Amino acid sequence: MRVFNFAAGPAALPLEVLERARDELVDWNHGGMSVMEISHRSKAFMDVAARAEADLRELLGVPSHYKVLFLQGGASAQFSFVPMNLTAQGANVDYIDTGHWSKKAIREAQRYCRVHIAGDSGAAYTSVPAQAELSFSKDAEYVHYTPNETIGGVEFPYVPRTGGAPLVADMSSNILSQQIDVTKFGLIYAGAQKNIGPAGLVVVIVREDLIGHARPGTPTVFDYRAVAAEGSMLNTPPTFAWYMAGLVFQWLKARGGLAAIAQANRLKAELLYAAIDGSGSFRNAVAQDARSRMNVTFGSTRPELDAEFLREAEGAGLKNLKGHKAAGGMLASIYNSMPIEGVAALVEFMREFERKHG
Ligand SMILES: Cc1ncc(COP(=O)(O)O)c(C=O)c1O
Repeated sequence: MRVFNFAAGPAALPLEVLERARDELVDWNHGGMSVMEISHRSKAFMDVAARAEADLRELLGVPSHYKVLFLQGGASAQFSFVPMNLTAQGANVDYIDTGHWSKKAIREAQRYCRVHIAGDSGAAYTSVPAQAELSFSKDAEYVHYTPNETIGGVEFPYVPRTGGAPLVADMSSNILSQQIDVTKFGLIYAGAQKNIGPAGLVVVIVREDLIGHARPGTPTVFDYRAVAAEGSMLNTPPTFAWYMAGLVFQWLKARGGLAAIAQANRLKAELLYAAIDGSGSFRNAVAQDARSRMNVTFGSTRPELDAEFLREAEGAGLKNLKGHKAAGGMLASIYNSMPIEGVAALVEFMREFERKHG
């Protein structure tokens, strides 16, 4: 029996995708083998890879002067490979600090660059700085930000204008959740395990002119130019994850693309935030205009009830609602594959819990 899985990542995948992968698992493409068991250089797999890239480009509207790379190492590896690929020793870079993942990216970048904090959201991390509050360095090689802070449930309602420096975005937890204008970004990266597919894959979308300047010492398999030149097949890629990502892209297209999924995501988030705001028993601390559409944080107004809430929710088939250990409380991740029925079930459960314990 399937449950409603609110995990932050690895996260729920669309049931239709899982069922198709199951059906194709041992005999893929009538070849008598699993897609996991064939060469990444075979024509059959190259077709899978090419279609996945084409579908991703179509979904996001990626212009032809951007490369799309399928890499390994997770989003965290990009915390280092972005500065290693985009800057030389001693470079100045700007970072916006809005929470847990921004901080991690900053700490890693400090190993390679002089990092200037161009804006932050204060110690509580319950908002994002407004455009007018951002102050960029004159000579920053790039500006990095985290459009959606997964753990804090804080999302930028706008794309920062940097006044020139390329904008780098860690879109791990909100990529493909709505339409974006890729030309506003120099580089986008995203770990797969939320809105793309299984863990083990990270997607990098990078403007062509930004590659080719990797520092000496950058591992070849993470040098964007070398990877791009080989179609992300410099070495054996995570083929099964890539195939699964391709199925997710096909699923998104069949659902009407990003305009349709954005609308569904808006409705889900509105339903959940309205239930939190309208209850006397739960609260969300994030500023209205910075509330994440993907990761909804909430806690009981009597925090001693959080553990009981989580226990009863598990029993009701509402799984993995526990907030990150750094944040506490509850975290409902409602990525693309969470159906509105899952959110409705959670809202109903919250009402029932309030009646019982309120
Ligand atoms: C916004 C964001 N960035 C980076 C990461 C780290 O990703 P990975 O575990 O793939 O390195 C995560 C969490 O998974 C995340 O949510």
